[in-house]
Amino acid sequence: MRGLAFWFYFTGVIYVIAGMAFGIHLSATHDYTLAPVHAHLNLIGWVTMGLFGLYYHAVPSASEGILAKIHFAVATIGLWVIIPGIVFAIQQKGETLAKLGSVLTLGSMILFLIVVFRSRDRVMA
Ligand code: HEM
Repeated sequence: MRGLAFWFYFTGVIYVIAGMAFGIHLSATHDYTLAPVHAHLNLIGWVTMGLFGLYYHAVPSASEGILAKIHFAVATIGLWVIIPGIVFAIQQKGETLAKLGSVLTLGSMILFLIVVFRSRDRVMA
């Protein structure tokens, strides 16, 4: 695995390590207020990013061109915005970051839809 596939997968593993550590913190403190933060870090950061990585690994030509790079950038920025955004929303300190992160994260999935559609006739590696 290399290129964009590697970076999606590699950063996904970093996010799940952080997410698991945060899950242990939730258990240790018996304070589950921020459990949705843990869930979204693992599900967007690990499951979603990891699936993107596996797709780009299976269809390497899909990562050629600027669109796939923009996809990685938007997905990464979206995660880094939505995670503190959920923290702030739960702590009732404002919802702006959560909204922005949500739109960016949705946007990254729409970009992925375009990438997948444009690569429909390309063969698996
Ligand atoms: C070391 C690994 C992990 C630990 C220690 C851990 C711990 C926890 C804890 C303590 C909770 C809160 C339970 C409660 O509210 O009663 C939780 C909830 C949750 N976890 Fe994990 N977890 C781990 C890994 C994962 C992974 C890998 C995923 C997903 C890929 C995940 C997804 C979720 C989800 C969806 C919830 C529900 C959140 C909610 O109710 O808002 N967890 N986890």
